Amino acid sequence: MDRIEITGGMPLQGEITISGAKNAALPLMVASLLTDEPLALVNVPDLADIRTLSEILAAHGVTAEIAGETTARTLTLSARQITSTVAHYDLVRKMRASFLVIGPLLARCGEAKVSLPGGCAIGTRPVDLHLNALERLGAQIELEDGYVLASAPQGLKGAEIEFPFVSVGATQNLLMAASLAKGDTILRNAAREPETVDLGQCLIAMGAKIEGLGTSTVKLTGVSRLTGARHTVLPDRIEMGTYAMMVGTAGGQLRLRQTDADLIRSVIPVLTHAGLTVKEAPGEVTVSNGGQHLGVDVTTEPYPGFPTDLQAQFMALMSTCQGKSHITETIFENRFMHVPELGRMGARIAIDGQTATVTGVPKLKGAPVMATDLRASVSLIAAALGAEGTTTVSRVYHLDRGFEKIEDKLSKVGAQIRRIRG
Ligand code: UD1
Repeated sequence: MDRIEITGGMPLQGEITISGAKNAALPLMVASLLTDEPLALVNVPDLADIRTLSEILAAHGVTAEIAGETTARTLTLSARQITSTVAHYDLVRKMRASFLVIGPLLARCGEAKVSLPGGCAIGTRPVDLHLNALERLGAQIELEDGYVLASAPQGLKGAEIEFPFVSVGATQNLLMAASLAKGDTILRNAAREPETVDLGQCLIAMGAKIEGLGTSTVKLTGVSRLTGARHTVLPDRIEMGTYAMMVGTAGGQLRLRQTDADLIRSVIPVLTHAGLTVKEAPGEVTVSNGGQHLGVDVTTEPYPGFPTDLQAQFMALMSTCQGKSHITETIFENRFMHVPELGRMGARIAIDGQTATVTGVPKLKGAPVMATDLRASVSLIAAALGAEGTTTVSRVYHLDRGFEKIEDKLSKVGAQIRRIRG
């Protein structure tokens, strides 16, 4: 298994082009199931998750072609015929986002058999919001041997749905399903994340009738057919926030290009309170580090709040802050897996329930550490860039799922980072 080795102490200087957002590209790819015409997605990042989802979609009969490089990289998906409405456990278990196929398959074919992600019992499994909402659209849902059997032989019917709490995935599933349902659907307490808005805009380009995107009440009027479209994937706000925080841990100045400061609007004041300087210009953000940073408290929230996907990276930054920082995670129950690993590098972090209290230390020290999930793994790289000595991060396949060419991007701006194969 590959490892990444980082020797800390090199400030970052230069510019980084922000890739297309993984979390937008994945649901957009699934939207290709809704039409028999080609859907061309521009600015699709070159990531393991994108390849896995292409494989999952291929099992339903979707063909995929890739052309172009970087921001012009275009993935054209064509679901002329759905050859199977079954999503097998072997593929779905690799990636939770693949559960999104259930809404479009049901809407287009009237049936779907999709493995529960992880295969656990319903109720404790977090796809209950997806399933309850699809039932409100008239789907019949049964569970059998770890699979969800969904059917709607007469088609889906529009309904009013209030989500009990915000779910990005459930909102996206419902946007796709309700686009092809008969009549009107209202989604209340819908996710407002930019990636969900991006999906909605692509659906509109495909002929869907949707109002209120980006607000918590979204109205859809079903149409009988959707067409192909060409859509550009929005920039990755998590990648942008991560590199901004790396300027904090490593020092220096980075110009982050092909992006939009609005995507990290709630993160910018946190960074400036911590002592970083953030300058905005059209299509780019420049982040500089003047030296020691201060402890700042943050709480993760659904958009437009501070994103859970930046929590681990922010904790790495706070590990060497002046004073203390309280970081509260409200979205996921078990998202402090990076804490013991940061501890191995000398960070002082105490967890009490949903809150981690970080007491800043002057410097972290390089150590062998293990990546436990996607965002945790990148937080270890952020920590290592500012640490004394060498850090080796193992299990980097997590990283490859979501950060495009991270070693290339970082070494071009001065980091000492390399991949050790095998
Ligand atoms: C998406 C993102 C992920 C991000 C998360 C929150 C993608 C591919 N992934 O994940 O990177 O961290 O949003 O911003 O876009 N839940 C239930 N029942 C459900 C659905 C969710 O209990 O039916 C719970 C989840 O366990 C979690 C919370 O709701 O605690 C939020 O999950 P959700 O917003 O659905 O996240 P994802 O769409 O899986």
